[in-house]
Amino acid sequence: MSAPQHLLHIGDLTQKDVLALLEKAEKIKAAPQTFSTSAQGKLLSLVFAEPSTRTFHSFSAAMQRLGGGMLEFRPDSTSSIEKGESWSDTLKVLGGYVDVMAVRSHNSELMETAVKVAGIPIINAGNGGNGEHPTQALLDAFTIQEKFGKLDVHIAFYGDLKNARTARSLMKLLHPFGSKFTCIAPAALQMEAGDIPFETAEKLEDVLPSVDILYTNRLRKEYASQSITKNDLTRLDGEFAPITTETMKHLSQDAFLMEPLPRAGQIDPSVDSDPRAIYFEQAKNGMWMRMALLLNALKV
Ligand code: CP
Repeated sequence: MSAPQHLLHIGDLTQKDVLALLEKAEKIKAAPQTFSTSAQGKLLSLVFAEPSTRTFHSFSAAMQRLGGGMLEFRPDSTSSIEKGESWSDTLKVLGGYVDVMAVRSHNSELMETAVKVAGIPIINAGNGGNGEHPTQALLDAFTIQEKFGKLDVHIAFYGDLKNARTARSLMKLLHPFGSKFTCIAPAALQMEAGDIPFETAEKLEDVLPSVDILYTNRLRKEYASQSITKNDLTRLDGEFAPITTETMKHLSQDAFLMEPLPRAGQIDPSVDSDPRAIYFEQAKNGMWMRMALLLNALKV
């Protein structure tokens, strides 16, 4: 693989890099035992300044399945951040203990500092609501490739698209491969216009019969800006009709429902038994993709 060792943004990867990572993840998933000592003697630091279940644990599982080890750092009362130590010193010290670091935080500053001071490959494990989540985009692309055998698909993004780092990164990844996007959100939470074209739609039901993927995004209350008050949030929450078995009746039989999770009420549990609901499969694919990313970062 030739992808760069730091992975901060999807734009750091060429189409060739993306395809190489998908191919690697596919090989790992098909025969994980073949890679069980690939990272023997190597250590991963998981620096998480925000909550996480999937990203944290799939990185941890990935490193351990490669035969390596994992150290966890959280800036809580157990760390010397509590005693006033700077992030810069913290990341420099941690960089001396390990071989690769994954960083999650509310903004891009932490991972950018890590790149400057840690002296090891840095992977963005999600940076804020208006940032990116490149490893999620890669695992999503891996799941799409598995289901469709291609990356030029039509995706309907639904929900809070203003604070959806997952949707933003996935659009950046898929756009060069020819994918099309339709965004359905309340006006206050619509996807911001950028370099990547997308259409909008008023009603979910209007687009469901014609898309390949419905990709939902819960309301990201943790990223509400000062322009969105708590009252606005409560009102907006009411504007997001959750996905139910009734919604699924409108989705094509050949299409899939994806969601980065946690779903936080966005998808009714009764939908889980629909074979088109693939969010748990998607979450599991995160482990295979992160194994591929760790092998790439470590150059092993
Ligand atoms: N999809 C995702 O990033 O989940 P976590 O916040 O649990 O890591």
